[in-house]
Amino acid sequence: MTDSYSPESAHLEAILLVGGQGTRLRPLTLSTPKPLLPTAGVPFLAHQLARARSFGVRHIVFATSYRASMFAEVFGDGSAFGLTLEYMTEDSPLGTGGAIRNAAQALACGPDAPVLVLNGDILSGHDISEQVDLHVSRGAAVTLHLTEVDDPSRFGCVPTDEDGRVTAFLEKTPHPVTNRINAGCYVFQRSAIDTIPAGQVVSVERETFPGMIASGELVLGYADRSYWLDVGTPAAFVQGSCDLVMGRLASPALPGPCGEYLALEDSKVSPSAKISGGTVVGARAVVESDASVRGSVLDAGCVVESGATVVDSVVGAGARVSSGAVLRNAVIGDGAVVGSGNELLAGARVWPGVRLPAGAVRFSSDV
Ligand code: GTP
Repeated sequence: MTDSYSPESAHLEAILLVGGQGTRLRPLTLSTPKPLLPTAGVPFLAHQLARARSFGVRHIVFATSYRASMFAEVFGDGSAFGLTLEYMTEDSPLGTGGAIRNAAQALACGPDAPVLVLNGDILSGHDISEQVDLHVSRGAAVTLHLTEVDDPSRFGCVPTDEDGRVTAFLEKTPHPVTNRINAGCYVFQRSAIDTIPAGQVVSVERETFPGMIASGELVLGYADRSYWLDVGTPAAFVQGSCDLVMGRLASPALPGPCGEYLALEDSKVSPSAKISGGTVVGARAVVESDASVRGSVLDAGCVVESGATVVDSVVGAGARVSSGAVLRNAVIGDGAVVGSGNELLAGARVWPGVRLPAGAVRFSSDV
């Protein structure tokens, strides 16, 4: 631990859940865990860490499992971010509840303290202090951030009574009873974490929260409609990066001035290329003449050749999109080559290192 943290500190402590495999984001997550994917110029988590710090959090325990060692390689002891970071690794994945219980061993706070728990794949503009204040003032066991979405049928939903008490955790249904869903940010009473069985696979969503509700504990909802995005799918991941670059969500971790696009160090953009929609041009990436790139993530060292079109897509590190190729809503793995004239649409994914010969694919749909 660094000198900036002491167990007597009144600062709120946090647990960050970052052990998932990120299967929906493959192939991007084959080599890099989802929370470390470059997002608006920095690892995704840098945005969450900066936000948590802005709400007074100083000590964060990472609950790691998949590719665990990479987190410490990127964030170290946290001192560069004004934080004290610790890493608690599961031998095998313990699920969200088991991970929280395991990570809590590194907390310094006592049983009566509130603890912030964050899913490591959420971008949120909500007021964490208000959520904590509600939790403390009502003496809740857990207070969940609930976000209101236009189409709740794609998620499980979380109804509350008129006092904000959560009454159920409902599975996905075509006819949801509320548009409020679990937003993946919780304030737990430390003593409530300690009741989760240790060393076992436990899901907070399927076991812990429904169990607490059934036994009459006070599980509260803190609902709002501020910016919220779960970046678990390629489309959402690209959206999140673009939203940060375009300023739709303010982040203290953005590495430079942004606008229609963010160009990182030593990148080269031809004056005749058209780049827009919050695109990131990664370090040493090249966008050649007359290429058109909209709302996309171009990772370090990739090349978009002249006249290529890239829309709502991710081009992995060192990958190449050849002249005249078209990507729309596609993910190109690191080092892959999309030959000229290919047209990859609607969720198409190219695995790292694969070379698609010129004109090989005219259309591919999500599989
Ligand atoms: P998918 O495989 O694409 O569903 O993504 P995911 O693995 O991230 O799963 P999901 O989005 O459901 O996970 C929500 C959050 O919990 C993410 O921040 C995950 O990193 C984290 N998480 C899920 N399972 C575990 C686990 O077993 N251990 C730890 N430490 N974290 C987990």
